[in-house]
Amino acid sequence: MPDGHDKTRHSTTEDDITAAVLARFAATPDPRLKEIMLGLIKHLHAFVKEVELTEAEWFQAIEILTEAGKMCSDKRQEFILFSDTLGASMVVDLIGHRKPEGATESTVFGPFHRLGSPDMPWGGNIAHRDTTGIPALVSGRVLDLDGKPIAGAVLDVWQAQSNGLYDSQDKNPDQLHMRGKFRTDSEGCYLLRTVQPVNYPIPSDGPVGAMLKATGRHPWRPAHIHFVVMADGYEAVTTHIFDRADPYLESDAVFAVKDSLICDFARHETPTAEAAKLGITGPVLTAEFDFVLKPAGATAQVDVLDAQRRLAALGTRA
Ligand SMILES: [Fe+2]
Repeated sequence: MPDGHDKTRHSTTEDDITAAVLARFAATPDPRLKEIMLGLIKHLHAFVKEVELTEAEWFQAIEILTEAGKMCSDKRQEFILFSDTLGASMVVDLIGHRKPEGATESTVFGPFHRLGSPDMPWGGNIAHRDTTGIPALVSGRVLDLDGKPIAGAVLDVWQAQSNGLYDSQDKNPDQLHMRGKFRTDSEGCYLLRTVQPVNYPIPSDGPVGAMLKATGRHPWRPAHIHFVVMADGYEAVTTHIFDRADPYLESDAVFAVKDSLICDFARHETPTAEAAKLGITGPVLTAEFDFVLKPAGATAQVDVLDAQRRLAALGTRA
């Protein structure tokens, strides 16, 4: 061998390659980026070796990721669906939102939040265009960890229509519907009007749907309403409330159910006094849920708002 061409210096085995790639990233100046890249390579290589990925399977993975990218638009986020259905979103959520006892637990943000939802009055109806759902009143308080009411807290609410679709998936995707921002009164109370939340399948006409089908999984999510609850001086919480009667609570396609977020939607055949005041004449459902916020950390509030803005920006860039 000529000088400088020592064969032993080249990566010839599977483990040599892993070591060489790790070494190549060892000088990454940002320590957090270095940690992430080294962890990614270690686990990615270990995964490929463990399952002995074939070239055909590797190519299929490239095709799936390419197709996922092509499906993304301002109305569709296939990568968030992948993250959600693989349980990665919930792991990130759990790491990022370790809560003290008593604080409302968070759950996945999901791909359907939209900026610009309207400010709503006390008892305002987010379902004003939904003519088929059973009216539902959701009420409760926003409290601190000591049980004291938080006045002026904002509840950013979004929900699927009674046809199981979000406004962004419907015929007129540019019109906001089933969304609103509510504020608590001086007693920390809120009241919103909507329709009965329904279970719905996540969009399954793309690569995520193909994965669910191929692995014998269903795409259904239990009935829920999304909330981001925010107040000055407190950590905002991104969460859902779930209907206790839903058959998919045990098998949510995105693993987002937590026991503390399940509540009863009680059916009344004749309107309650509050429902009558709001002009509801037939059967109505009522649900009560109190949100408990913990004091703000240094950056928590920014994180929630940042997630909202970044999701919106993903769409506008598409
Ligand atoms: Fe949802």
